Amino acid sequence: MTQTVKIGIIGSGGIANAHAQCYKKMSDVEIVAVADLVPGKAAEFIQRLELKNAVPFEDHQELLELDLDGVSVCTPNVAHHKTSVDSLLAGKHVLVEKPLSITLEQGIDMVETSLKMNKMLTVGFQPRYDPNMQLVKEIVSSGELGNVYYVQTGGGRRRGMPQGTFIKKALAGAGAMADIGCYSLDLALNTLGYPKPISVSAYTSNLFGTNPDHHPEAENFEVEDFGIALIRLEGGKVINFKVSWAMHMDTLGPTLFLGTNAGLKLTPAGQGPWSGVWDGGIGSIDLFHDVIGQHVDTSIPVKKHNLNIFYEKVRAFVKAIQEGKNIAPIPAEQILINQAIIDGILRSAEAGKEVSISIPELRPAKI
Ligand SMILES: NC(=O)c1ccc[n+]([C@@H]2O[C@H](COP(=O)([O-])OP(=O)(O)OC[C@H]3O[C@@H](n4cnc5c(N)ncnc54)[C@H](O)[C@@H]3O)[C@@H](O)[C@H]2O)c1
Repeated sequence: MTQTVKIGIIGSGGIANAHAQCYKKMSDVEIVAVADLVPGKAAEFIQRLELKNAVPFEDHQELLELDLDGVSVCTPNVAHHKTSVDSLLAGKHVLVEKPLSITLEQGIDMVETSLKMNKMLTVGFQPRYDPNMQLVKEIVSSGELGNVYYVQTGGGRRRGMPQGTFIKKALAGAGAMADIGCYSLDLALNTLGYPKPISVSAYTSNLFGTNPDHHPEAENFEVEDFGIALIRLEGGKVINFKVSWAMHMDTLGPTLFLGTNAGLKLTPAGQGPWSGVWDGGIGSIDLFHDVIGQHVDTSIPVKKHNLNIFYEKVRAFVKAIQEGKNIAPIPAEQILINQAIIDGILRSAEAGKEVSISIPELRPAKI
């Protein structure tokens, strides 16, 4: 018989709603408790979503005293570290929303705690479940492109700056680079097999966010709304990474993989201001190669699907708990590399020069 998985949700805002809707569709999952530090918010969430038998808390530590298998961490970025570490220390598996943390040090602590406690820490990067993202990885991994030495990725919105906790440095850690950029970075790094980053040279700006004509909370806007970075990776590879929350342009260009035998171009499915391949919306995949010396452009059919990739990520967490092998579907160890790059981007932009990226050897955390 399949194990019924008992879940707690920490943070009951927008994305918690999406997690809860997914869990509710699963007959082998019970949402046992919800915690939100705003008084009454968890109770209202439970009532609105008709989570029968779920108990509300204001303090996540009280939620963690319950018999739970896993926890969805759905708080703003600033609280990912504490709530995830506390959950792992309480012996629960954790699905934490993206980005992993607001600093690299926090991310390291989270991963080391999961290693020490032998509990899964997986990160909510739903584009990994997009069949076309998987197809791109399959094509690049097959060797069809030869040695891939350059990736251009990123993208973003003509207008699409969030508000509230997303724009305060102390709460979000970073702006567009971490919020939507982390997906594009994962697309590039996961496709390449997560090579180690060596250094980064970056520029960031916030010329839209700090302008009251463009943002209602301009005086509180502390993060970047645009950024570009040249990221050097081991093996002589380089990523040209660019992201915007706002710009006077329709697109920052396609995602490109240049290899010694062929190149791959990904263009977004939509034309709208929020469209981009970074969120799983791949519209076309084109291969540029030579056949007996002739330049040939081959359109690779994109996979049509009705998958709800958000559901797939939540389901993968539940399945991994049931399998009991402690294999995180999207291991935080990988996403730590993503976090280290974002950390390097912010340091480089501030210093105005290239900076090196180093990730210390992970060791079990001291409790
Ligand atoms: N994967 C995705 O597609 C996606 C989309 C949007 C947001 N997110 C991520 O989800 C996270 C939450 O975003 P959101 O839009 O739901 O924010 P939100 O502000 O709507 O909700 C966050 C909730 O967490 C609560 N909270 C804060 N600190 C807490 C703590 N210590 N303990 C308990 N509750 C706490 C807040 O009171 C709030 O109710 C962010 O990290 C964001 O980056 C992911």
